[in-house]
Amino acid sequence: MTSPSPLRTLPMLGRTHGSRNAVTCHLRCGDACFKPVPNATETSYFRDIAAATLSRRSLLRGAGALGVAAAAATAAVDGGAPASAATGQAGGRLPFTPIAPVPSTVDDITVPRGYEWHSLIRWGDPILPGAPAFDGGRQTPEAQEGQFGYNCDYLDILPTNAAQTRGLLVANHEYTNENIMFPPETDPESVVRMAWAAHGLSVVELRRSRRTGPWSYRKDGRLNRRITVETPFAFDGPAAGSTLLRTAEDPTGTTVRGTLNNCAGGTTPWGSVLSGEENFNQYFLAAGTAREARYGLGAGDSRNWRSVDPRFDATSPDYVNEPNRFGWIVEIDPEDPTSTPVKHTAMGRFKHEGANVVVAYDGRVVAYMGDDERFDYVYRFVSKSAYQRGGSRSARRHNLRLLSEGDLSVARFTGDGLDDGVSDGTGEWIPLTRNGRSMVPGFSLEEVLIFTRLAADAVQPTKMDRPEDVQPNLVNGRVYVACTNNTDRGTTGKEGPTEPNPRAANKDGHIVEIVPARGNHTAATFSWNLLLICGDPETAGTYFGGYDGEVSPISCPDNLAFDSAGTLWISTDGQPGTLGYNDALHKVTLSGSERGKVEQFLAVPAGAETCGPVIHDKDRSVFVAVQHPGEGGSWQEPQSTFPDFVPAGRRTPRGDFAGPRPTIVQVTRR
Ligand code: FEO
Ligand code: CA
Ligand code: CA
Repeated sequence: MTSPSPLRTLPMLGRTHGSRNAVTCHLRCGDACFKPVPNATETSYFRDIAAATLSRRSLLRGAGALGVAAAAATAAVDGGAPASAATGQAGGRLPFTPIAPVPSTVDDITVPRGYEWHSLIRWGDPILPGAPAFDGGRQTPEAQEGQFGYNCDYLDILPTNAAQTRGLLVANHEYTNENIMFPPETDPESVVRMAWAAHGLSVVELRRSRRTGPWSYRKDGRLNRRITVETPFAFDGPAAGSTLLRTAEDPTGTTVRGTLNNCAGGTTPWGSVLSGEENFNQYFLAAGTAREARYGLGAGDSRNWRSVDPRFDATSPDYVNEPNRFGWIVEIDPEDPTSTPVKHTAMGRFKHEGANVVVAYDGRVVAYMGDDERFDYVYRFVSKSAYQRGGSRSARRHNLRLLSEGDLSVARFTGDGLDDGVSDGTGEWIPLTRNGRSMVPGFSLEEVLIFTRLAADAVQPTKMDRPEDVQPNLVNGRVYVACTNNTDRGTTGKEGPTEPNPRAANKDGHIVEIVPARGNHTAATFSWNLLLICGDPETAGTYFGGYDGEVSPISCPDNLAFDSAGTLWISTDGQPGTLGYNDALHKVTLSGSERGKVEQFLAVPAGAETCGPVIHDKDRSVFVAVQHPGEGGSWQEPQSTFPDFVPAGRRTPRGDFAGPRPTIVQVTRR
């Protein structure tokens, strides 16, 4: 635990540094929050605004604040955001009465009255020809290669016919928890190979009998695919072929086996799926040079994958560059199971949470991205070429190259002070690359792209509180940043509160709302404000967009989604540690007199986080990925039996499992 900061006003209730279960911290992020902050650069923010910020936040919960926040928002939208007439409203087609927060001991999905939930697909369900039904006691690497992977995170459901009765599910599999996946006596090499096969992504065909009915998955779908730690990828963009990407196995620096720690992502307008390689550092043994340390490399590799494949030993001269081949945005074409997935070097290398794309006024494509680490940055990529409409083969080929060339920049948020009564201000996108050239003195183009964190450090962007999803809202034209938490802010030797990150020891996180200048996503400047400062609404320092009515408690916002009306939905990762409640999916009204109203829609089972929300309100459906249920347990003593709920001591039905299984869940309105 960190020592209390003099600026801190909120109690530390978390079980860990970063609010998550300690096992999740270890397995998913390599204990990132227990290690030194990789960003040790100095910035000149004003620590002394903290106390004023916190007291004013509390005042702003009163009715007087609504006018200020709402007026600022309206003025900004009227300034030119696209489609502003249809700003997000609370309605949509999913009316519900908010559920009460669910105690963190409840091992079940909880949904509102009038809704029901179904498992759509679970870890281990067979999806490729010849794959066996899941058998927890007799797992093999070969079986897992044909089965749905572990710890699903990003998720999308893509209808593929006009009647919307056929579709594709695409999901990321971020990491593995060997302790609860495999019997302890399992051969260690087999454990490593099964873990490789359980990472990556899955593509699975879906069917349903009517548009508002529940989907089921097709075991024999022609488009079904597993992408794993062994699947060949191609590098593209300016750094492809760089000497910094070459290894003994790939002396050309153009191809790489596999993808690692795929966290969130985004679906593009041309139908591909982007996926962020996040905490890739934990899989490698590395010397810990300054460049490596900025990415958390050099802190050990607890999974010991190098015992099976020497490329995971980056202290070896043959593989010193292997970690440089991870930490990218990858793009897959789910409609072509034979296609080679791509790692886009033009989009930079960091701990990518995900990437979310919008088409700008001039047709260029803009991707917003977060680097999920304490005190790291928010990035933007603008493509060189414009998006081509239509479904022709040539348009598709063109669009699949859009993210290969373009300009990368990083965000600086400037507060305008607190005299106006709100945390808000202006911002700029500081160029890192432009027209195929480095914009950072002392860095070549390929160095900017491969060591993006270090290049960004040189231009003084704003250090954020772990930016996760950065998601453009296609209805109101704004961009939302989920800063999940940062309990290090304001601790000894660390940067203190700033107007865009206003709380010391920020255990509950906040949501930044970005308004691009003139509604133009390629503009160099923007304005911003804080939509939410999360937490228990009865706690000083929380803020709910100026709304002063009843709201659901919310903590550790992670993944963001919008319904067809542009209303924001937020999934959480860490509420058990901060609030004592299971992680949740919340709806947040963005406009009108209820702007900032948070209403809890569901809760996931004990130990799980809520991921990948997909809101298909026109289909009366919501989907979530239930990641790491029962995370703190063991094979012998599971802490969750979700979703099969096999009673202790009973025979396990074929295909079921007596322990927890990460699962895609569909919630439908009755
Ligand atoms: Fe994998 Fe940033 O969460
Ligand atoms: Ca202000
Ligand atoms: Ca996440």
